[in-house]
Amino acid sequence: MTSKPVLWITRKLSAATEERAARDYDVRLNPDDKVFTPDELVRMSGDVDAILPCHSELFDQDTVARLSDRVKIIANHSVGVDHCNLPAFKARGIVVTNTPDVLSDATAEIALLLMLAAARRAGEGDRLVRGGRWASWSPSFMVGVQSTGKRLGIVGMGRVGLAVAKLVSGFGMEIHYSNRRQLPPALEAGAIYHPTVEALLPHCDVVTLHCPATPETIDLMNADRFRLMRDGAILVNTARGALIDEDALIDALCTGKLRAAGLDVFKNEPGGNPRLAELDNVFMLPHIGSATRETRDAMGFRALDNLDAFFAGREPRDRLV
Ligand code: DGY
Repeated sequence: MTSKPVLWITRKLSAATEERAARDYDVRLNPDDKVFTPDELVRMSGDVDAILPCHSELFDQDTVARLSDRVKIIANHSVGVDHCNLPAFKARGIVVTNTPDVLSDATAEIALLLMLAAARRAGEGDRLVRGGRWASWSPSFMVGVQSTGKRLGIVGMGRVGLAVAKLVSGFGMEIHYSNRRQLPPALEAGAIYHPTVEALLPHCDVVTLHCPATPETIDLMNADRFRLMRDGAILVNTARGALIDEDALIDALCTGKLRAAGLDVFKNEPGGNPRLAELDNVFMLPHIGSATRETRDAMGFRALDNLDAFFAGREPRDRLV
């Protein structure tokens, strides 16, 4: 009998994922869900054939260079791979995969939740009732803005952007999008294409970000681009905190240039930005876009599918390098 490959799963995953992994691999789990530093990643890599990490593990250039030669594949439990230095992995000949598709609907749900919460002042309302400070009601009380019939701008019309467009269709919103390429009409489904973010922003009452964090998209939403947005617009981010210059966002929220923001991701994670937390017109969640029971299983299974293919000598479906 040949021995099973040794697989290290760096974080605590869904029970179904861990059971399947334990069936098919000689698996190292993390029942206490400890977060590993880059030095610990290097040390732990010494006796494993494969690592199944999350976006919480940083594989920068130096860490990748120091990983054990034994590691052959990094099967990420995430669609975003900004925590992985892909050129460094390529140079080491280590295969890297991710988990696209399976989290698009869950993330789109959170984008809608953030849009509505920001537009209808849900955070403020919750704090008021919860704090026992709800003392009166009047027609001028807690008035927000309606999303129905407004113009929604989707920056990055990939899988998640398309899922947002589909989910929001019941709201009768006019959909605008920017993307590297214009989509074919069947996929566009009536959405209006803008070749650049600059061209998109002046048209939209709500802008939602769905592009990856790459060197080109760091601080995509900066002071210049906030100036291009409509007065009183709303910004939503479920992608990566790196896409927003948070100081510029705070200025735009404080001056009233933006009405509100709904954020699931931050430059500093975990933790967020205490200056954003002081603003009533920001609704925030702790990076839970993909955190549903269904999606956690699907992400775990997709990562394991990639590992199974690799160890069976086939091309993993979601191979990036
Ligand atoms: C992803 O998959 O990129 C999500 O942000 C969770 O890691």
